[in-house]
Amino acid sequence: MRKPADTSVDLHPVLAERWSSRAYDVNATIGADDLTAILEAGRWAPSAMNGQPWRFMVAHRGDKAFETIIGTLNGFNKVWTPNAIVFIAVLARMTNEDGSPRPTALYDVGLAAAMMTVEGHHRGYNIHHMSGFDHDAFTSSFGLTSDLAPIAILAVGKQVSADQVANEAVRERELAGRERLPLTELVIQTH
Ligand SMILES: Cc1cc2nc3c(=O)[nH]c(=O)nc-3n(C[C@H](O)[C@H](O)[C@H](O)COP(=O)(O)O)c2cc1C
Repeated sequence: MRKPADTSVDLHPVLAERWSSRAYDVNATIGADDLTAILEAGRWAPSAMNGQPWRFMVAHRGDKAFETIIGTLNGFNKVWTPNAIVFIAVLARMTNEDGSPRPTALYDVGLAAAMMTVEGHHRGYNIHHMSGFDHDAFTSSFGLTSDLAPIAILAVGKQVSADQVANEAVRERELAGRERLPLTELVIQTH
């Protein structure tokens, strides 16, 4: 299903066509090159002082880690994610070696996630970001050190049509329109 962005001028097709689906093909797989390309896109994101505070954890459907991640998700996310091909958990190094904070870590990590999203959609996958998970449970399940914060989990899947979704709530969300604030509200005019 397509839900192109309603824009005042044309965007790059990948940007216009990207959206966060929840209807994934349970039999889909991902090629090693495609997965590597998505991770490379994150790796080559810009970051303050080239600090690269992002870390990525990849868990394939069928792996123990995949089930562990599903166990940390909130109720609704648990429903639609099992058909994802892989989860990419995006983590941030929030501090420097000396313990001082990295003030732009979240910004940098968000950029890496955005770059991965664009590369993934360009390659025919749908990437759906999630912050709806128990961050403490994630940290303890994977024994993360205290300087590494789990920020988001990216579900990577192959989209199928909404009528193939059995769960009614998921199907409803799949068919819902996409909305944004108008540009006039987002752009603060300067004089
Ligand atoms: C940081 C972040 C966290 C999100 N968390 C969730 C989530 O836990 N569950 C979910 O179904 N969608 C989640 N989303 C998806 C958003 O709801 C979605 O991007 C937004 O509604 C805009 O829709 P679009 O991506 O289709 O344009 C998240 C998106 C972002 C960027």
